[in-house]
Amino acid sequence: MARTRVLIDTDPGVDDAVAIFLALASPEIEVVGVTAVAGNVPLAKTVLNARRLLDLAGRDDIPVAAGCAEPLSEPVVEDSVVHGRDGLGDLEWDEPRVTLDPRHAVDLIADLVREGPLSIVAIGPLTNLAVLLQRYPGIEREVEGLVIMGGASFQGNVTPAAEFNIWADPEAARQVFAADWPLTLMPLDLTHQAYLVDEDLEYFASLGTEIGRRTAAMLEPYAQFHDRWYGNRDVIMHDAMAVYELIDPAAIDKQGVRVDVEVDGVHARGATFIDRRREHAASPVRVGLAVDNDRFRQVLRERLASLRDTEVD
Ligand code: RIB
Ligand code: CA
Repeated sequence: MARTRVLIDTDPGVDDAVAIFLALASPEIEVVGVTAVAGNVPLAKTVLNARRLLDLAGRDDIPVAAGCAEPLSEPVVEDSVVHGRDGLGDLEWDEPRVTLDPRHAVDLIADLVREGPLSIVAIGPLTNLAVLLQRYPGIEREVEGLVIMGGASFQGNVTPAAEFNIWADPEAARQVFAADWPLTLMPLDLTHQAYLVDEDLEYFASLGTEIGRRTAAMLEPYAQFHDRWYGNRDVIMHDAMAVYELIDPAAIDKQGVRVDVEVDGVHARGATFIDRRREHAASPVRVGLAVDNDRFRQVLRERLASLRDTEVD
């Protein structure tokens, strides 16, 4: 079975961390690069967190590059603590041995596209991808596939209208959705169907690996946030859905759609309008509709249990 070469563009982020570990643990996927973008926390922290996560998994062979610190859109000052002040649940970390690739994120992505078929998993604001399109016109036609966690058909999470990744940079999202690449969108209405429960956190903590312990430890404050915000501790695995799509495309029901983004607006900044009418059935833009959470949890447990804390050379 040929492995899918994957670049993960991310703003770690606790659910980003689980998505990255799932990708690293899945034989269907070869992670060939990780690029950081400002989002859940500022760029300096998302870059450090990307290095920390690859370091924990012993993967100093995977390049990590820093991308955009500011959105294309008017920045919105948000001191988000949803993922902790450091973005990973405020655990103690040693300085990661995984170094920072000197290239800008978009140049790393362009190099990886040039080296062979590449799929992109985008699990943060879409600023890096918009700058990629600007700096490398036409590159969208060389990318094998793009899976984005973002948007919402109905209820937002950062405002009633908008999901965070799109809200953080709606102009970037508009440019990414308008480009000619095979795009699959995992919006909140899908991702809210995928969540972990306390026994999953206990399972990770019992694995006897540092990855298991730290995954459980960073999920705990995230579960407390969910309890305060949604009234229960079910931890929504937004970003892992984008990775799951590349592991098992049959696992998530999908359909062709048209997607538009509200770029301005006092109340509707970052709202996504996901048009599911039959006229878009053959569209290359698809949206995730439904997923079996029990099956997803089982796959995630199996994969994370297979990860070993190997020493970085
Ligand atoms: O709305 C969910 C998205 O926003 C996820 O990517 C999460 O990590 C946050 O960035
Ligand atoms: Ca994210």
